[in-house]
Order: sequence, then C-alpha cells, then structure tokens
Amino acid sequence: MLEKLPQPVIFAHRGASAFAPENTLAAFRLAAEQGVEAIELDAKLTADGEVVVIHDMTVDRTTNGRGEVRHLRLDEIRRLDAGSFFSAEFRGEKVPLLREVFEEFGRRLFINVELTNYNAPLDPLPIKVAQLVREYRLEDWVLFSSFNPWNLIRIHRLLPECPVALLALEGRAGWLARSNFMRWVSPRIIHPFLADVTPESITQEHRRKRRVHVWTVNRAEDLEALFRWGADGVFTDDPALAMQIRSRVKT
Ligand code: G3P
Ligand code: MG
Repeated sequence: MLEKLPQPVIFAHRGASAFAPENTLAAFRLAAEQGVEAIELDAKLTADGEVVVIHDMTVDRTTNGRGEVRHLRLDEIRRLDAGSFFSAEFRGEKVPLLREVFEEFGRRLFINVELTNYNAPLDPLPIKVAQLVREYRLEDWVLFSSFNPWNLIRIHRLLPECPVALLALEGRAGWLARSNFMRWVSPRIIHPFLADVTPESITQEHRRKRRVHVWTVNRAEDLEALFRWGADGVFTDDPALAMQIRSRVKT
C-alpha cells in the first residue's frame, strides 16, 4: 500500500497536531478531513497492558494528570483530559486506545505506528500491536517505526508482511541508524531527522534501496526542498500546507 499512496507520502505527525491536540481522535479526524493519506502516532502500554496513543512517557504535558503511562491503568488514563493543554475548545478529548484509531481510520488512512516503549523495551507492546493489526486486518495499511531496532525485529517476526522503518536520532546520536550497518534491521525505510538530510544523503539511501521519510517538517521552505530532493515522505504537524506544496512542486 505504501507505494500506492500519493508520493512523496505526507504523514500527519501525531495527527494534524498544529491545529488540534496531538495524538487525539480530534487530531486524526482533522487530518482525515484535510484529505491527507497517512497519519503517524505514538503507541505505548498502560499498567494493565492496553495499547494507548500518547507521545511522552508521562501524561504530565498533554493531560491534566500526572505519572508515567506504564504505571497508570487504562481507567485512570481514560479519566484524563487530553485536549485542554492545547486549547479550551478541545476540553474532554481522551487519550485514545490504538483500537479506537484502527476502528475509525483503519483502511481509510495509512497508519505509521511508532512503537514508543522506550523506557520498557522488553514489554509486550509489539505483541499487543500485532494482535490488533490482525484483528482489524490492517496488514496492508500500517508501517511500524521505532528508535529502538529491537522493536522492529520483534514486530517483523510477528507481521513479516508489514514494512518497518528505523527512526534515526538527531545528529551524531543517529549515525548508526543512518549507516549501512542497520541494513539487517530496516532494509526498506529510514526516518531521519530533518537537519541531517541533504540531497546527497537521500541519493545515498536510495542507492541502498531505502525509502527516506523525514521528521518533523513544518516550514514551507523545508517541505519544498525535501520534495525537490526526492524525499519519499515527510512527517508534518501541518498536512494541509504539505499537500499544497506537494501539488505545487509536482506540477
Ligand atoms: O515518527 C516521527 C517522529 O514522530 C519521531 O519523533 O518524538 O515526534 O515521536 P517523535
Ligand atoms: Mg512519533
């Protein structure tokens, strides 16, 4: 499916998160309304083993609660307001379950699930996510990414037909992911940080037969440059702007 989407692929990063609270159904709905083909979201486990969609390790920044996601039960997390931090208009938005996102947007939007169990790398997150993908028959509609290559190895064993992408940390910290050594983990796709991308690095990745999806690109001039350099995808908080620029660059 990834190759059949409009190219370069535009991923609404945490939904249309410039205009709605990140990683909420409201942000994914807005992205869908704007007509984008793909979304990105951050998946992790609650204390009772449910897969929820939230970026940070704690609920502190994006909700009215406190504490680490992995130490809170689903019922505790579901009581929290995940909209007000962004604006009063979104008061009452919840931290979504991955199941809810699959239910509402599955087979309508292509979904990049970032496996974000970075403080519990051996937890069963890949197993739970794979079960949901099978249940909703979304094998052709998902792409998995993670900064932790071990997650990609695990999810690839469970869902060998789904593409996986290695996220590269910024700068020197991401050199291993950007090098040839990581071919065995992520033969097809790399997600580098914007400041590390040059026309030459894109050409080099293409020579390695890897797609290049760049995070996180919000400025018009950066979007335009990446599209001209041949990037295969971008993550952006403003998918409407990215779509406008894509259509201009392509014509
Ligand atoms: O997947 C692209 C991007 O989401 C990775 O960084 O911290 O926004 O999850 P982060
Ligand atoms: Mg992410």
